Amino acid sequence: MTEVTAQGEATLLEKARQKFVLTFGVKPVSAASAPGRVNLIGEHVDYCEGFVLPVALPFTTIVVGAYNKLDECRVHSILASGEELKTSFVATSSGTLIPGEPAWANYVKGVLAKFPVKVCGFDAMIVSDVPMGSGVSSSASLEVAFFTFLESLTGKSVDPIEKAKLCQKAEHDFPGMPCGIMDQYIVTLGKKNHALLIDCRSLEAKQIPLEADDTVILVVNSNVKHQLTGSEYPLRRAQCTEAASLLKVQSLRDARCEDIEELKWLNTDPDVVKRAKHVINEIARTEKAATLLPLKDFNEVGQLFYESHDSLSKLMEVSCPELDELVQIVRSCPGVYGARMTGGGFGGCMIALARKDSVDEIKKKVLSQYKGKPTFFTCNPSDGAKVLQV
Ligand code: GLA
Repeated sequence: MTEVTAQGEATLLEKARQKFVLTFGVKPVSAASAPGRVNLIGEHVDYCEGFVLPVALPFTTIVVGAYNKLDECRVHSILASGEELKTSFVATSSGTLIPGEPAWANYVKGVLAKFPVKVCGFDAMIVSDVPMGSGVSSSASLEVAFFTFLESLTGKSVDPIEKAKLCQKAEHDFPGMPCGIMDQYIVTLGKKNHALLIDCRSLEAKQIPLEADDTVILVVNSNVKHQLTGSEYPLRRAQCTEAASLLKVQSLRDARCEDIEELKWLNTDPDVVKRAKHVINEIARTEKAATLLPLKDFNEVGQLFYESHDSLSKLMEVSCPELDELVQIVRSCPGVYGARMTGGGFGGCMIALARKDSVDEIKKKVLSQYKGKPTFFTCNPSDGAKVLQV
């Protein structure tokens, strides 16, 4: 199977509900969902207060649950393979949460620790079809789905932007990943048939309509995950902070192309100069793409995709041979406007903006030429997190 399709909210909810009843012997009373995402453009700029343009995906994480009258939270998660992960920890109403093993539980514990009110013991079941480790934000999907579940369980609702910020903080402090705000923001506020232009400085956002009947965003998963992400991501972030401080600006959002010369003149580490160059140009590309997309100027947007990939590969150095290979393969396919890696990098997915009628040929070409094992899905922009009726 090379085509991956979303199972749909109703199917996943029913699966979670049944598993919950089987495991805990009672019916769940609260349920919530949150999607995965792909970023169209604006990569590795959210932590520099830049602009990003992601969309929410139909793949989703569902959390169902109920209070259990204990001082303990028992959380189970069903993986795509059918394997069931289990964890339990103290409820916030009776203790303090700290990160620890198993690693996956840190996403859940982090969110519970940041939730604005103390929560009594509960049981929860998590089911998700968001591809894991593929750069489509399975982590933010879990965090925001879990947060939304807690809102439903406790009756305490939180402003959506505040929610995204709390989930981001949870990821910083528990799994220890110093991510930007993009993933949690889009997963919370995505809208069907729209991309979201997020200003990662003001945290204001604009919905950009994405309804082109004959044009699609094809996502190709390289199905590789290099172990570099953990150490390299914080390094990129630190290099960008260093560039901003050398230029005496709050963040690279305030830097201009001319500042690259100044960095060189200051004898800055060449890697830091390259990162700054990527960020300054990528922010400009993103703003441009957001104006061109509604005009359906796909040729121009496609060029911006190629430039973005090139910059991520050569200046930011977050691509990998497999993603470079995929972009190279689709580049020569008729009907492709542009292509680029998406997400944090070092593996995961590539996106291609292409004519709908060329998708079958693109897939054939990738299947016959790509050295790895690709999987495909078409990106259908979907809604963000929501409370569900259980
Ligand atoms: C990861 C992070 C995001 C963002 C992207 C790169 O997905 O979680 O905050 O920095 O990488 O654009």
